Amino acid sequence: MQRSDDRPFTHDELVAAVPDVDALVCLLTDRIDAEVIDAGAGRLKVVSNVAVGFDNIDVAAATARAVAVCNSPGVLDETTADLAFALILAASRLLSEAERDVRAGRWKGWGIDQYLGRDVHGATLGLVGYGRIGRAVARRAEGFDMRVLHHARRDTGSPGYVADLDALVADADVVSLHVPLSDETRHLFDARRLAQMKSTAVLVNTSRGPIVDEEALAVALEAGTVFAAGLDVYEHEPAVHPRLLAAPRTVLLPHVGSASVATRTRMARVASEGVRAVLAGERPANLVT
Ligand code: GLV
Repeated sequence: MQRSDDRPFTHDELVAAVPDVDALVCLLTDRIDAEVIDAGAGRLKVVSNVAVGFDNIDVAAATARAVAVCNSPGVLDETTADLAFALILAASRLLSEAERDVRAGRWKGWGIDQYLGRDVHGATLGLVGYGRIGRAVARRAEGFDMRVLHHARRDTGSPGYVADLDALVADADVVSLHVPLSDETRHLFDARRLAQMKSTAVLVNTSRGPIVDEEALAVALEAGTVFAAGLDVYEHEPAVHPRLLAAPRTVLLPHVGSASVATRTRMARVASEGVRAVLAGERPANLVT
């Protein structure tokens, strides 16, 4: 089964189609839950996500039914880090609001106190999560003379490690999120944690939407307790919380972190290679189970 447009399969379509396939190459918009996996029981051998995140797949259900799960790690780190850095710059310098005004004919000429953002160069960057993408963002930050701190669940042993997430959040001028979505990270940035941020600080999320409580973030932006936000991901994609849509100093992108021609091509290849390996009885390098 295959679709020529970008519309995600409905849950019913997946359940109906999966008994006839040995492998699913799926997208993060396909919810591969226990019901889908059960429907494929007996024949389905592998589910391979064209994404590094695999929170759309019930990995425990797949493992229980001996269905391998693969993803597409490694090939999208630099492209996603580019996008995270674009959001760091765009949010800090209020680029969305400024561009909107130019396009709407509201800009009446240069003004000394217009669109006053925050400097990125020399600022302190707090990375939440220090996997491949977090490290790729850190490399870019060095070129901007940023002081780079990072938090991870386990001591990374690398310079800049901060064990206490709240301490990192309180110290950072820019907080950038690079953790996978799990029960532990859901709403990691809730009202309490957002309140630890400096009122001059910027929050950037290119990981998964539910890591941030969108309502709480919108409230913080409205109140000015968080200076700005740059978001590529949302709690209920493709819906965006109406208060975030209306919030000031906010850059909103439609989940395009890995969206370059070369990277999406590599992701599809890596996911397909996982399928080939499983069906050939080999252990794929991109196995997550
Ligand atoms: C994109 O969000 C991915 O997980 O690859």
